[in-house]
Amino acid sequence: MNEAPPRRGDQEFAGQVNSMFDRISGVYDRMNRVMTAGLDQSWRARAAERARLEPGMKALDLCCGTGDLSLMLAERVGPEGEVIGADFSQPMLDLALEKAKDEGLRQVRFKWADALQLPFEDERFDALTIAFGARNLADLDQGLSEMRRVLVPGGRLVILEITQPRRQPLAGFFGLWFDRIVPMLGKVAGDSSAYTYLPESVRSFPDAEALAGRMDSAGFRHIRWTLMAGGIIALHSGVR
Ligand SMILES: C[S@@+](CC[C@H](N)C(=O)[O-])C[C@H]1O[C@@H](n2cnc3c(N)ncnc32)[C@H](O)[C@@H]1O
Repeated sequence: MNEAPPRRGDQEFAGQVNSMFDRISGVYDRMNRVMTAGLDQSWRARAAERARLEPGMKALDLCCGTGDLSLMLAERVGPEGEVIGADFSQPMLDLALEKAKDEGLRQVRFKWADALQLPFEDERFDALTIAFGARNLADLDQGLSEMRRVLVPGGRLVILEITQPRRQPLAGFFGLWFDRIVPMLGKVAGDSSAYTYLPESVRSFPDAEALAGRMDSAGFRHIRWTLMAGGIIALHSGVR
């Protein structure tokens, strides 16, 4: 199973990303744990914390994939709150739903949605998170504009993303790990093209400072970001 990796700029880019995630859904969680030496859940936990949710609040976890961050948000809003995990890959959503059932978290539900055309009314959510999803959007500015639209005034956007480290020795390590090791792991997992796309997508995504600028242009304020894992992971937040 090895289609060509999605190519930004192709008209079918979004469709290619969509079918890639459909294809890798079964190995996605395991690959995450192996690629990050088990650290990915701690980064999601930091993102959940940054969303500053209180019991009873409403949150959208966009590009939720298999739902790990959605479940963390659900714990924070409690049974009287509401979390929607939204994604355009149905196989990823199916896995997310299984996890929510296993954990007995009734306050979270999962919905098919395209991040560039969200099926939610204006000012619907108190917070919106997007973990490792923004990099995959065909049009980042359109995505940010939709994210702003569905947040209440004062609502918080949290973006967790892989970013390219600028400084040595991390920059060298990034090259080795993402260009060599990750595609090799992907090959073992049965889909090297998806894991060749991963480093390419990081390289074509704005760096931390540029992403903050795009959030500002989209109308977010009080933007700040934290680099984690030696500069490979960026956690941004902003307020509508
Ligand atoms: C790398 S995964 C991240 C999943 C999850 N947030 C996590 O922390 O593991 C990216 C997800 O974004 C979804 N995605 C990409 N573009 C999308 C779009 N335009 N609309 C909705 N979902 C999208 C993919 O289907 C995939 O599940």
